[in-house]
This record gives sequence, C-alpha cells and structure tokens, in this order.
Amino acid sequence: MTTSQSSLGDKPVHRIGFGAMQLAGPGVFGPPADPDACRAVLRRAIELGVDHIDTAQFYGPDVVNDLIRETLQPYPEGLRLVTKVGAVRDEHGGWNAAAEPEDLKQQVELNLRHLGVERIDLVNLRRFERDNPGAQEPPLADQLGALAELREAGKVDLIGVSNVTVDTVRTAIETVGIGAVQNPFSILDRSDAPVLDLCRDHEVSYVPFFPLGSAFGGGGPSSLAADPHVGSVADKHQISPSQVALAWLLAQYDRLLLIPGTKSVAHLEENMAVLDVDLDADDLTALEQVGPVAVGH
Ligand SMILES: NC(=O)c1ccc[n+]([C@@H]2O[C@H](COP(=O)([O-])OP(=O)(O)OC[C@H]3O[C@@H](n4cnc5c(N)ncnc54)[C@H](OP(=O)(O)O)[C@@H]3O)[C@@H](O)[C@H]2O)c1
Repeated sequence: MTTSQSSLGDKPVHRIGFGAMQLAGPGVFGPPADPDACRAVLRRAIELGVDHIDTAQFYGPDVVNDLIRETLQPYPEGLRLVTKVGAVRDEHGGWNAAAEPEDLKQQVELNLRHLGVERIDLVNLRRFERDNPGAQEPPLADQLGALAELREAGKVDLIGVSNVTVDTVRTAIETVGIGAVQNPFSILDRSDAPVLDLCRDHEVSYVPFFPLGSAFGGGGPSSLAADPHVGSVADKHQISPSQVALAWLLAQYDRLLLIPGTKSVAHLEENMAVLDVDLDADDLTALEQVGPVAVGH
C-alpha cells in the first residue's frame, strides 16, 4: 500500500488532496448547477482525510472560494488551502493574464477575503510561458519579489510556481525558495518530466494538474478508458482506468501530491481509494506504452 503522507513544502499533507476547479459552473465560470452537491463533495473530501485543497479566485470568479469558505469554515486543523495568482476573468469568462506585481498582491487579498483566512498556505505564481511561449510577461524576478513581500508580511506561507519551464523553476528555487511546482502532467501527457526530475533533485513537492488528462477538449477519463494498457492493469487490479492513472502518478515520486478534481462524491471516493493500489514493476513497464494523447487546456 502506498504511504498516505507526504509534504507540501514543510507541511505534512495527505498524498491525495482535492482540486476544486470542477466546482464552478461550465467553463469554470459562474455558479455550479447544483451548489448543494458541490458542498457535499467538499464535506466528504474532509471526512476522507483530504487536508490539501487547490483553488483560485478566478474559478468562478470567487464562486469556488466562496463555496469552500461557506462549507468548511471553521476550517479543520491542518487543512492547507492553496491558490494561484496571475490571471483574471473577463465578463464573458475569458482568461486574461494579470500578473504585474500589484495585480498579484490584489489577487492575494481577494483570495484571503473570499477564503476567510489571514494567511494562505501556498500561493502559486501562474505564468503563461508554456501556454504562449513568445508572450510578453512581467519579469519573473519582480513577480517572485511581490510574493516574497507578501510572505514577509505573513499573508502567504509558501510560494509556488505553476505552468512553468525548467528555467523558471530553477530560478524560483534559487531566489525565493518554493514549496511546490504545479504543472500539467499525467500518464497521458508526460512532457513535463524534466520539471519533475528537477523537483526530485531539489526535494520540492510536485503537484500535477490535469492528473486524469483533463476533461477539457473531451480527453482525459475517456482516453484512459479507451487505452488497452491502462485497461489490462485495471482488470488485473479490479480498479478503474482513472485509478490506474492516479496510482501511476503516485508511483513517480514520493513528494508528488494529487489534486484530482470532481463534482461527484462517487468519483471522489474512487480517487481517494487509490492509496490502496500497489502497482508492481510489470504494471509500470506496461504503462510506459500509454499515450501520449493531446490533452485539452
Ligand atoms: N495551475 C493551473 O493552471 C491549473 C489548471 C487546471 C487545473 N488546475 C487544478 O488541478 C485540479 C485537477 O485538474 P482537473 O480537475 O481539471 O483535471 P483532472 O482531475 O485531470 O480531470 C477532471 C475530470 O475528470 C473527471 N473525473 C474525476 N475523477 C474521476 C473518476 N474517478 N472517474 C472518472 N472521471 C473522473 C471529472 O469529472 P466528474 O466531475 O464527473 O468526476 C472531470 O471532468 C483542478 O481541479 C484545479 O484545482 C490547475
């Protein structure tokens, strides 16, 4: 059985957390169709031992942070809330970069207010260098400097970086020190392996987003279900294709933390049960042959 504990920076956390993005309405915009069902997912997550929730002010916007605050306050001891800054939504749901130092500070304040906390456990600087390689972004040093000031002021405990290249991770480690990297990575999309290697070398926590390959673009869970290698390992262990994908991730690095997202209590329970899955060397060899598939962003 995989050990249940790891760490986010210096904070002990369960290896399986919860990604809250799926709790917003369609397109991660506006309220969900069934807010009570979303509250039930959050409550069940805590019952099952989740102590690490990934969110963002721009999920909704504010919808997901408000749901978390209304449902879970007073927060259980040891719950780690992680957010990300660097983007805003427009009135049509479009995503725009907003990543000058003053933007980042304003977004941290909004997260503090809507989550109802005085300090955020980890704030990820969300960059666009991977989505849009030639795009003009504010200097990384200025962005990290703004987050370091907030850390100094006690509003942020750990700094993280997200959607970033190896060079950015290295700079962030060397300048401000980071608690985690959050990048896309899954059995269907392993292109981030060099960043994962760097995190291993520096013992930095690695939090893959889109751990099931993402439902955007219609891929993700359905691609996993269609893959024969995933299917044979799933049959052997009597588990679902999604569980195979999550167990494969856990086997990559002991400081890899999962944040699978779901609106469904049944899927949440399935995802949390992955700690009971032990993939052996034959399984891992067979799974080397999976993908890659194009993952929608
Ligand atoms: N840093 C960033 O830029 C960034 C970007 C994207 C996401 N994130 C974070 O990463 C978290 C994880 O990403 P994600 O939620 O998009 O991707 P994901 O976990 O790869 O996939 C989510 C999709 O998988 C489905 N699903 C979940 N558990 C399942 C199961 N056991 N069986 C079958 N289907 C299952 C969900 O549908 P159901 O609701 O039907 O279960 C949903 O459609 C997000 O929630 C968010 O917190 C960060």
